[in-house]
Amino acid sequence: MGKVYYISKNVSLGILVLAAIALATIIALSIAYDKERAKNRGKPGDGGTGGSSTSPPPTTHFTPKEPWDRYRLPDSLVPVSYNVTLWPRLEPNTDGLYIFTGNSKVVFSCVKETDLIIIHCNKLNLTTFSGHHAKLSGLSEAAAPSIQKSWLVEKTAYLVLRLHSSLTVGATYVLHTEFQGELADDLEGFYRSEYTEDGVKKVVATSQMQATYARKAFPCFDEPALKAVFNVIIIHSRGTVALSNMSRSNCSSPRTDSAESVIDGVPVKVTTFEPTKRMSTYLLAFIVSDFVSIQSNQNNNLLIRIWARKKAIDDRQGDYALNVTGPILQFYERYYNATYPLSKSDQIALPDFNAGAMENWGLVTYRETALLYDPILSSTGNKERITTVISHELAHMWFGNLVTLQWWNDLWLNEGFASYVEYLGADYAEPTWNMKDQIVLYDVHKVFAVDALASSHPLSRRAEEVNDPSQISEMFNTISYSKGAAVLRMLSEFLTEPVFARGLSSYLNTFAFGNTVYTDLWDHLQQVGMQIPDTVHNIMNRWTLQMGFPVVTVDTSTGTINQKHFLLDPESVVDRPSEFNSCRAGVIDPMFSILMKRVSVVYTNSLMRASGQEWVLLNTNMSGYFRVNYDLGNWDRLLSLLNTNHQVIINRAQIIDDAFNLARAKIVSTTLALRTTKYLSKERDYIPWESALRNLDYYLLMFDRTEVYGAFQKYENHFKTITENWTKVPTGHTDQYNQINAIGVACNTGVESCRDLIKTWYRQWMENPNQNPIHPNLKGTVYCRAIAFGGVEEWEFAWEMFKNATLASEAARLRSALACTKAPWLLNRYLEYSLDPAKIRKQDATSTIQSIARNVVGMPLAWNFVRARWSYIFQQYGEGSFSFSSLISGVTQRFSTEFELQELKQFKEDNLHVGFGSATLALEQAIEKTTANIRWVTENKAHVLKWLTEEST
Ligand SMILES: *[C@@H]1O[C@H](CO)[C@@H](O)[C@H](O)[C@H]1NC(C)=O
Ligand SMILES: *[C@@H]1O[C@H](CO)[C@@H](O)[C@H](O)[C@H]1NC(C)=O
Ligand SMILES: *[C@@H]1O[C@H](CO)[C@@H](O)[C@H](O)[C@H]1NC(C)=O
Ligand SMILES: *[C@@H]1O[C@H](CO)[C@@H](O)[C@H](O)[C@H]1NC(C)=O
Ligand SMILES: *[C@@H]1O[C@H](CO)[C@@H](O)[C@H](O)[C@H]1NC(C)=O
Ligand SMILES: [Zn+2]
Repeated sequence: MGKVYYISKNVSLGILVLAAIALATIIALSIAYDKERAKNRGKPGDGGTGGSSTSPPPTTHFTPKEPWDRYRLPDSLVPVSYNVTLWPRLEPNTDGLYIFTGNSKVVFSCVKETDLIIIHCNKLNLTTFSGHHAKLSGLSEAAAPSIQKSWLVEKTAYLVLRLHSSLTVGATYVLHTEFQGELADDLEGFYRSEYTEDGVKKVVATSQMQATYARKAFPCFDEPALKAVFNVIIIHSRGTVALSNMSRSNCSSPRTDSAESVIDGVPVKVTTFEPTKRMSTYLLAFIVSDFVSIQSNQNNNLLIRIWARKKAIDDRQGDYALNVTGPILQFYERYYNATYPLSKSDQIALPDFNAGAMENWGLVTYRETALLYDPILSSTGNKERITTVISHELAHMWFGNLVTLQWWNDLWLNEGFASYVEYLGADYAEPTWNMKDQIVLYDVHKVFAVDALASSHPLSRRAEEVNDPSQISEMFNTISYSKGAAVLRMLSEFLTEPVFARGLSSYLNTFAFGNTVYTDLWDHLQQVGMQIPDTVHNIMNRWTLQMGFPVVTVDTSTGTINQKHFLLDPESVVDRPSEFNSCRAGVIDPMFSILMKRVSVVYTNSLMRASGQEWVLLNTNMSGYFRVNYDLGNWDRLLSLLNTNHQVIINRAQIIDDAFNLARAKIVSTTLALRTTKYLSKERDYIPWESALRNLDYYLLMFDRTEVYGAFQKYENHFKTITENWTKVPTGHTDQYNQINAIGVACNTGVESCRDLIKTWYRQWMENPNQNPIHPNLKGTVYCRAIAFGGVEEWEFAWEMFKNATLASEAARLRSALACTKAPWLLNRYLEYSLDPAKIRKQDATSTIQSIARNVVGMPLAWNFVRARWSYIFQQYGEGSFSFSSLISGVTQRFSTEFELQELKQFKEDNLHVGFGSATLALEQAIEKTTANIRWVTENKAHVLKWLTEEST
C-alpha cells in the first residue's frame, strides 16, 4: 500500500498529501462502515441473489406454501432448448379477433427430484391431449412419468403438471404444448401494431418480452437465468417477411428466403431461423410485417439492417441510423475487446412500441422516434436521441445479452451500465457533439433530484424483495438507469477508463452466455491488476447498498472537509441509516480524492485551506456522485470569479446545480443560489445554461410567473444577433440547443418580436400546409407557443397535421404542442382523446397526459382526470402500455400547497383497493416532494421575489 499510484504525476504536492490523508481515513471509515454493515445488512459482496449471507427477509414477507403460488420458479428443472413455431394471423378471424397459433417443445433436464412441472404460461389457450394441457416424453426413448393432473394458475401465470411419479435427476425430458393466443394491441408479449399506408390499414405482429411477457407468446421457463437455445420457426403469409433474433437458416431452403407451403388450405411461407446462442427468454423477438430494409456490410461482413415502413425507408428515414450503427458496433468491439456475438444486427422501427427501444439480441426494436431521422424534417435533438438510443441498445448486445444478470434485482447494473457507455458510443459516432459531458444533465442531475428524497432506495436490492411482475417493472426507474450510470462513470474515472475496460472485457469473456450477480463485475475490475486503496467491493458498497448521496462540505478557513447525507427536505425522516453521515472532520471517501487530483486550479497552499483571494473548487470534472458546499467566504470568491473570469471554473453547471439544490435543502440561502445566475449574460455554453434554466424552472413551477427571466435579456440579445433575429441556425451542435432555449426564454418573458415571429411563422404554415417555414430545431418551441397564443383554429390545424404526419418525431412534437393551449375545454377534450387509442396510440397516453399537466392551466384538469379514471386506467392499460410512475410524478410535479397534499393523500387512500402497481414508490415520492415544496415556498417566496425585483431594476 505504499504506492499511491492513483495520483497523476502532474499535480501539486498538496494533492499528494491530501491523498495520503484520504488513504488513512479510508481505514477509519471502513471500520465504522463494517460495524454499520454488521448491524444493517449482510456481508459485503453478497450479490443479493440467493440471500445466503444477507440478513433474513422481513418477517412480514409471507411465503406461500404451494410452489405454484410463488412468483419464482422452483429450482428443480433447467431448460436446454426450445423448438418454437408461431403463426400470427394479420387478419381478424370470424369473431373479429386477431390470433396466433403455435407449438413448442422444450427440452429440459431435471436437477432436483420433483413430481411437479411448473412452467410460465400467460393468457394462452392450450390444446389438451387426453385431458392434459401438455405432453411429456423422455428424450431419446427414455420413459417419462405420466401426467396425473394439469392446471393453470392465473395469478402467478403458470402451467402446472403433477406427475404420477418423480422425474429422475440427471435425465432430460421434452414437454410439448400447442396453443392459441390473442395478437392483442396491448404492447406486451406477441402483440399487434397497426398503421395506415396509402389509405390501407396494415398490421404488424411484433413482440416485447422484457420483463415477463415471453410467457404470453409460448409456455417457457421465463426467468433470465434460465438460458437456452431457441430454434424458431415462423409461419406467415406470402408477401410478408418474418424476423427473429438470428438469420434465416439456409439449410432449410437454400434457394429462397423461406419455404413456401400450404397449411390448412392457406398458402404460407415457413421461415426457419438458425438456432440462437444460449440466451434468456426476455431477449427473444418475433416480427412479421411487410416492412422493407436498407443494409450495409461495413463491419467485416456483419450484416447490418434497418427496417421500417416502406414509406419511411423510401423517404430515407433509416439512413442516419444505418450510418451510425456500424461505427458504434466497432466502438464496442474495441471497448469490450470482444467481437459482436451474432452474425447479423437488425434494428426495426415500430409504429406501436411502449418503451423507447428494446435490446432483443440481434433484433433491436425501437419506437419510430428513436430510430427514424428525416434529413429535412427532423431536428438536431431528434438526431441526438437516435444516436444515444442506438448506442444504449447496442451496448447491451454484450453487457446484458451475452452476459446476463441472474435476477431483476440487479437490473441497475445492466441499465446503469448501458446508460453510461451510451455516451461513449455516441461520442465515437459523433465526435463533435461533446456527448460525454451531457451525462451530467441527462442522468446525474436528473437522478440527484430523486435520490435526495427520504423515500429513495438503494441501487441494489435483495433478490427476494423483487418477485412479482409489478415489482420487477418498478425496477425500471431513474435510480436504476441514471444513478447506475452515475456511479459506474465515477468508478470508471476513478480506476481510469483503460483499466475499467480491461476488467469489463475479462468479465464478459469469463461469463459469456452465462449469468452473473453484480459483484462478479467488481471481482473482475479488482483482478485487472490495479492497486487501489480499498477493494472495489468496499468502495462501491457505499454507493450501491445505501440510498442517497453525500454533500461534502469544505471549510476553507480551517481546511477541513466533512460529509453528510444530502436530503432535499432536511426535516424528512430517513429510516435507513446512512454512513454518509460520518461527520468527522477530515474524513473523506476515497472516491472524493479522484476529484481533488483533478483540481488543476486549487489556488491554495495548504490543501483545502484558502485565504485572501485563494479559492477551492471540488468535483471539477463533475464525475463525483455528490454535492459540494463551501464556507461562505469561498462561495463569495467563486461567485466573483464567475462574474469576472467565469471560464476558469470549468464545472459551472455543477456550481449552479449544487447552489440551487443546497438552497432547497436550506444549507445555503436562496439568494446565494440566485447569485450564481448573474454571470449568465456572459455564458455561451449550453450545459451551464441548461442547468440554470432547469433550476429556474422549479421557481417557475412554484411561482408560475416570476420576473426571474428579466435578467436574461442580454443573453437573448446575443442570440438574437448571432442568429440574425433567430432565423439563422448556428452550426455547433449545442449552439443549436442554445438557440432553442433563447427563443423559448424570450417568448416566455413576453419579448414582443419573439411573439410576432412565432405567430407569423405559424400563420404562414397554416396558409400553406405543404410548406412549413419553421426550422425543425425550432418547431417544438414554435408550435407550443403558437398554440398557446392562439385559439381553436390553431389547435385544430395542429391536430390535422398530427394526424397526417408521416414522420413520427414530427407527430410527437405536435402531440406535445397540442397540450400548450390555454383553453380549458380544449385541454379537457384532449385528455379524453388521450385514452382513446383511435386518436392517441396507447404508447403515447402517459406522455400526452403529462404534457397537459405541464401546462399551468392543464395541471388541475389532468389531476382531476387521473384521479377520476385511476381504476379504469389501471385496469384497461395494464403495466405494459402505461408508465404509471411517470404519470404520477408528471402530474404532481408542481404540487406545493397544503390542499394539494391532502388531495394526494386522499387519492392514495381512495385507491388502495385498486393499487398503484409500478407507481407505488412514485406516489410516496410525490407526497414527500409536495411536503418539501410547501415548506420551501412558504419560506422562500418573499426572498426570491425581493431579489428578483432588485436585480431587474
Ligand atoms: C428441434 O429442432 C431441431 C432442428 O430442426 C431438431 O434437430 C431437433 O430434433 C428438434 N428437437 C425436438 C425436441 O424436437
Ligand atoms: C381462449 O379461450 C377463451 C374461452 O374459451 C375464449 O374466450 C378466448 O377468445 C380464447 N382466446 C383465443 C385467443 O382464442
Ligand atoms: C450517411 O452517410 C453518407 C455517407 O457518408 C452521407 O452522404 C449521408 O448524408 C449520411 N446520411 C445522413 C442522414 O446522415
Ligand atoms: C483482448 O483480448 C485478447 C484475446 O482474448 C487478449 O490477448 C488481449 O490482451 C486483450 N486486450 C486487452 C486490451 O484487454
Ligand atoms: C432584426 O430585426 C430588426 C427589426 O426587425 C432589424 O432592424 C434588423 O436589421 C434585423 N437584424 C438582422 C441581423 O436581420
Ligand atoms: Zn437498457
